[in-house]
Amino acid sequence: MFKRTIDDYSIAKQITLLLNKNNKLTIRYQPEDILHVKDTYIVETIGEIVIGCIQVEKQSYIMSELKHLVVHPDMRKRGIAKNLVLAGIKKSITPLLYATIRQDNIASLNTFKFCKFLCVGKYTTGNRNILLHVITCPKWDEQVYKTEDCACSSIR
Ligand SMILES: CC(C)(COP(=O)(O)OP(=O)(O)OC[C@H]1O[C@@H](n2cnc3c(N)ncnc32)[C@H](O)[C@@H]1OP(=O)(O)O)[C@@H](O)C(=O)NCCC(=O)NCCS
Repeated sequence: MFKRTIDDYSIAKQITLLLNKNNKLTIRYQPEDILHVKDTYIVETIGEIVIGCIQVEKQSYIMSELKHLVVHPDMRKRGIAKNLVLAGIKKSITPLLYATIRQDNIASLNTFKFCKFLCVGKYTTGNRNILLHVITCPKWDEQVYKTEDCACSSIR
């Protein structure tokens, strides 16, 4: 791994600040929570400043969750979220990836739509409508469809 001018604790602390301020989460995160699973995060930095991140959390043999997507308010609308989601898709070690997005979070919905996620479901929790988005990671998608007589080939 390359040596960085910014250490892991500082990255984790900045991630918690971004998440706690911007993501309307029910849990307040501490740097230790992030450090504990640091290998699951992708961060975007400028110098020593973390300007965005996303987490790819494996949930089972077939499925991971993309979560904790956030971009610093001063750095939005420059394509950083799209790049983070695309990097998350590449990082996934499971065939399926999902993300849950509030129905009123237009910026996030547009980001996942751009990255080819499909909205496959909706549920309500408290007073929030949540949309479930799913994608098959391209590396597995290609393998399935290359097999001519595969039962799944009719899906396309
Ligand atoms: C959602 C968020 C990560 C988007 O970050 P971003 O870097 O500004 O997004 P991008 O610049 O990559 O833009 C992605 C898409 O969203 C659109 N978009 C960005 N901000 C938008 C806004 N305020 N309203 C509508 N569309 C918006 C962009 O136009 C782009 O779509 P396009 O390709 O069709 O033009 C950012 O707004 C954020 O951190 N929000 C707070 C935390 C959050 O809601 N996280 C997601 C939890 S599911």
